[in-house]
Amino acid sequence: MNDSDHTEDFKLDLGRRPRRIRRTQALRALTQENWLRREDLIAPLFVIDGDGPKEPVGSMPGVFRRSVKDLVQECRELAEVGVRAVALFPSIDPSLKDDVGSEAGNPDGLVLRTVKAIKNSVPEIAVITDVALDPYTSHGHDGVLNATGDYVLNDETVERLCQMAVHQAIAGVDIVAPSDMMDGRVGAIREILDEAGFTNTAIMAYSAKFASAYYGPFREAVGSAGAAGTTTLNKKTYQLNPANRRAAIADALLDEEEGADFLMVKPAGPYLDIIRDLREASALPLAAYQVSGEYAQIHAASQLGWLDYEKSRDESLLAIKRAGADLVLTYFAREVADKLD
Ligand code: PBG
Repeated sequence: MNDSDHTEDFKLDLGRRPRRIRRTQALRALTQENWLRREDLIAPLFVIDGDGPKEPVGSMPGVFRRSVKDLVQECRELAEVGVRAVALFPSIDPSLKDDVGSEAGNPDGLVLRTVKAIKNSVPEIAVITDVALDPYTSHGHDGVLNATGDYVLNDETVERLCQMAVHQAIAGVDIVAPSDMMDGRVGAIREILDEAGFTNTAIMAYSAKFASAYYGPFREAVGSAGAAGTTTLNKKTYQLNPANRRAAIADALLDEEEGADFLMVKPAGPYLDIIRDLREASALPLAAYQVSGEYAQIHAASQLGWLDYEKSRDESLLAIKRAGADLVLTYFAREVADKLD
């Protein structure tokens, strides 16, 4: 395949022709710089109490709230296709929710029972638990509100998060993942885990978590939106301003100083610049969370016939790797792992 099969006389005198190495499938594979691997994928899973059938999440095709038993089976199948980690999120019965998220402190809570069940049956898969109060509060905020209800109290919330993290460590979780964006929570959790003897329980800090509109479908899944009566629950007093790049790095570096083992950027696709910045600012393993809205977008557009489902899905994940993430939390984890060789 030379460029000479046309008859025209016009010929560029080019020393460099970058297309040379894109000519065949073999050359393209030889020169590919980034790859998505099964080992990069973390599957977020939703758990619900009882032993009912799995419940579909309307805005997230292919995603379900699962009973503990069903979720354990899902973990087994994830492990079989080579996924190494799952991140658990509970959908809590509204009758158990209150202003301060008391159920988060229940030593026999749903998440803790789920961790134990996974560790019993699929010990090879790493389990990550969320440390935040939003699945448990009647208002859907990640922490405890002040008297006027317009501000999440920092230190009081952190105290509750510490207690949650210890319960999760006792249940046998590998990694606790504070997603609340309170100040000082990573350091406080590290300290209390160490005091309690859990020096090997790792912390994945949701370091650069933005106040994003892309969390809507997740809030449906865990019922935190319904509780608050809106999908645009305003978390701007604790989550990062989407306009800010330096603030994200500064906040993430604090998490590193406080003892985080992994940093995370969330959402992923709309924040690739932050992933790149953090990749360069820290040597820690870096995760990126391709959130519910990013997943829903790809599904919705492909249902309309406006995007090719598999191609846009795969490109979205590869772009996150290329930006510099080591790990990707994604609702596509299982199907993508299943298909990768
Ligand atoms: C809250 C939390 C959220 C997500 C994970 N943990 C939503 C929020 O901040 O309201 C969103 C994940 C997703 O959209 O997939 N602790």
